[in-house]
Amino acid sequence: MFSSRLDWGLEQNPLWQELSRKRAAGETVLDLTESNPTKVGLDYPEREILASLADPRVSTYAPDPRGWISAREAISEYYSTFGKHVPSSNIVLTAGTSEAYGFLFKLLCDAGDRVLVPKPSYPLFDFLLSLDNVEAVAYSNDTGVFEPLPERCRAILAVHPNNPTGIYVHEDEARRLHGLSARHGLALIVDEVFLDYALVDDPPPSFAGASKGLVFTLSGLSKLAALPQVKLSWIAVSGAPELCRDALDRLETISDTYLSVSTAAQLAVPRLLALAPSIRRGLNDRIRHNLSTLRLAVEHSPEVTLLPLEGGWYQTLRLPAIATSESWALDFLKKASVYLHPGLYFGFETEACCVVSLIVDPSVFREATHRMLRRIADRIN
Ligand SMILES: Cc1ncc(COP(=O)(O)O)c(C=O)c1O
Repeated sequence: MFSSRLDWGLEQNPLWQELSRKRAAGETVLDLTESNPTKVGLDYPEREILASLADPRVSTYAPDPRGWISAREAISEYYSTFGKHVPSSNIVLTAGTSEAYGFLFKLLCDAGDRVLVPKPSYPLFDFLLSLDNVEAVAYSNDTGVFEPLPERCRAILAVHPNNPTGIYVHEDEARRLHGLSARHGLALIVDEVFLDYALVDDPPPSFAGASKGLVFTLSGLSKLAALPQVKLSWIAVSGAPELCRDALDRLETISDTYLSVSTAAQLAVPRLLALAPSIRRGLNDRIRHNLSTLRLAVEHSPEVTLLPLEGGWYQTLRLPAIATSESWALDFLKKASVYLHPGLYFGFETEACCVVSLIVDPSVFREATHRMLRRIADRIN
């Protein structure tokens, strides 16, 4: 009766089963996967956020398929703060970045087409692609995309900086991606939701404002202002003018079919983008604080390596190869009541890696980190 798009194996994995069992039994689990910024005890300017969502114009419905012009102008202004020119007419609002992906796959791909996707990376890509009957073809973050490309490729996806590796797309790799897209007529889709969470001094720039090819940069308030509940993201279209025009005409039709972004969220964009830098400062302090806790703790655990990190909300740890990442995660949960994500979920296939969120409440983070490292020491000694 149902579409094969959803043939994913909907059964719970052992880690999730154990987590559910512990929670049902009322046990406290220290959660190192928490990525919801509204649940980690951050200070938000609540009055200003609420005021931004109570614009009197909300009582009128005046849909524009690209989004309210005041919102698009504020987003265009955001790009200009770091020297990128994206006119407001080249921006399309969406209700979240996931929806932005759905729009782009509909724009670029027919059923059975392919998109090149970095690995390891954000696990939702496989689901987003298959909901549009598009196939993901993985390329390694280490080696990059190489030719010959598989048939029916329509786009290359890059995550800048990547989730969970936290590594930006550097200049030489960016040049290679532009070259490949030009040679093969592929669009570039660059996910920049974590762009402004740099942990290095001089991170590589945004892909927005390209003058050749067809480049879609994605971002949104979910990460930029740590406000996922507002459900507002965007696609910024840049590249050769005629390609941009053709893409925007079509995107407008797709967006007009749904008109999914609420008027309240669109009207709030200018004020929320103005609040975003101060919200990010709080979150960046949190990330740096937790990272230094982790680095200090790992100094006494030579069997654990922290993979290099340049930005974003996550840290990947390489653990002793005596167990797989899934069995490490299950062991931490069973024996130390610490929940974290096995690297396998993100596509770390050969190494025993685990991923922790750096936005977690600092006291939970410290205790969970110590329990995890103690458990590793117990197992290997
Ligand atoms: C790389 C990446 N892209 C997109 C998203 C989804 O963002 P949104 O909440 O705007 O749908 C996430 C969420 O964690 C992410 O990690």
